[in-house]
Amino acid sequence: MVVTSHYLASQVGVDVLKAGGNAVDAAVATGLALAVVHPGAGNIGGGGFMVVHLKDGTVTAFDFRERAPLRSHETMFLDSLGQYVEDLNHEGYLSVGVPGTVAGFDMALKKFGSRSWKTLAEPAVRLADKGFPLSWSMAESFKGYASDWRKFPASAKSFLRSDTVYYQPGDIWKQPDLAKTLRRVQRSGRDGFYKGETARLLAADMKAHGGLITEEDLAAYEAKERSPIRGTYRGYEVISMCPPSSGGTVLVEMLNILEGFELGAYGHNSAAYLHALAEAMRRAFADRARYLGDPDFNADMPVARLTSKEYAADLRRTISLNTVSKSPPSTLQFPEEDDHTTHYSIVDGEGNAVVVTYTLEYWYGSRIVADGLGFLLNNEMGDFNHIPGRTDSTGDIGTRPNLIQPGKRMLSSMTPTIIAKNGKPWALIGSPGGRTIINTVAQVVLNLIDFRMNVAEAVSAKRIHHQWQPDVMRLEVNTTSRDSERLLEMMGHRLRRNGYQGRVMAIVIEDSTGVRWGASDPRDVDAAAVGY
Ligand code: GLY
Repeated sequence: MVVTSHYLASQVGVDVLKAGGNAVDAAVATGLALAVVHPGAGNIGGGGFMVVHLKDGTVTAFDFRERAPLRSHETMFLDSLGQYVEDLNHEGYLSVGVPGTVAGFDMALKKFGSRSWKTLAEPAVRLADKGFPLSWSMAESFKGYASDWRKFPASAKSFLRSDTVYYQPGDIWKQPDLAKTLRRVQRSGRDGFYKGETARLLAADMKAHGGLITEEDLAAYEAKERSPIRGTYRGYEVISMCPPSSGGTVLVEMLNILEGFELGAYGHNSAAYLHALAEAMRRAFADRARYLGDPDFNADMPVARLTSKEYAADLRRTISLNTVSKSPPSTLQFPEEDDHTTHYSIVDGEGNAVVVTYTLEYWYGSRIVADGLGFLLNNEMGDFNHIPGRTDSTGDIGTRPNLIQPGKRMLSSMTPTIIAKNGKPWALIGSPGGRTIINTVAQVVLNLIDFRMNVAEAVSAKRIHHQWQPDVMRLEVNTTSRDSERLLEMMGHRLRRNGYQGRVMAIVIEDSTGVRWGASDPRDVDAAAVGY
């Protein structure tokens, strides 16, 4: 079973499985295909995380998060007066982190793969070279970003039919430059991206436009194999991404707090349930801001304590079930989160499970297509804290663990998660959505375990988000009744109704039969769960 944000990428993964490849092989082929058919977030110019649970019990994670270029520095997004220019860290060539995706896939393949780059890159090369029919939503999206494409000639060449003519639904969209780049990766794996012509062209494009990434940055990039975060929830095992993503740590901290409440008895999306959720969220998100960053630069992060049952019990004792607690003292504000990023889940016939969440940061990243290379560059430098030492009510966060340093990975919220039962993968879950990702994944876990929903119900059910500051509970439309909203307001919650939150791609493996149930989120129009 393969569940992704684009039906063609799901089919690519299934084809690899049908031909005898394992879940890691399929994850690489699927990830490359998404870079072609789902350019908003699928990528080779960005980065992300893969969590693996093999049928023999082996559990591991691959970190291919982007890194700050070697010439980057703490104050690079401040002007000469030390002022931050709004969203400068998300704009232009300076916002681009050193991409990690191809290195991450290469590392996972070397460790667990059974198929070659030649085989696994072929479907993506073909999709880029021969093209594929654009859906209505993709054609509309390309049109919607037209003013961005026009800023960069290579982007306009990729995403506009001509300067004045847009692609239409059903048009065959070809990406010849991307096909050439993917062929180099197909021939040489990691070196096809980080060395030779791809690296030369990327470094030249950077140099010509004031970017920092050099051939040295590319050659020096390393993916890392790491031990995922592991926790338990009501007898299930929770396996999720460790720093530099905050996802697994915050997820386990929240679940540990919530384990002490009879959530199932409260009723799904009742006022009592949403209150308990928000109280757990505000506490875990406060810890996220305070403590988390790149582990290679922050040796003293208290991850073990944050994910311990004892710490959760201490936090639970501070929660009243009748009234809202003040957010821990701070006036931090966080900017809105876009629904960028993409997640996919794969389980093969043997029962090996792989979850991948990867991203360009914003939808289409920096919106810059690398000249002559055909792929979009991320704007992940925007995930670092950009004003050292300044944490205030205007939205600035300057806490030290996530300040820019050369070679450092920026803190992420991506939460590719596997829930195991009796030592075997049971549920595979992940979502896009910036900081909302962690809360989205948590609610799908609770829907499955506390509310005994099937996977389609669990993925579809309405969700909320609270992230400590701003001190607001965001609810999708029709999450709960007006009565319950009034009860929440009487407890002291400030509510804000939102459009929608996340796009979960999930699988549940029925333990008695081994049947795999896949569910792509109805919030996503081109997505598909494909099995065989
Ligand atoms: N860029 C979104 C994340 O890493 O969480």
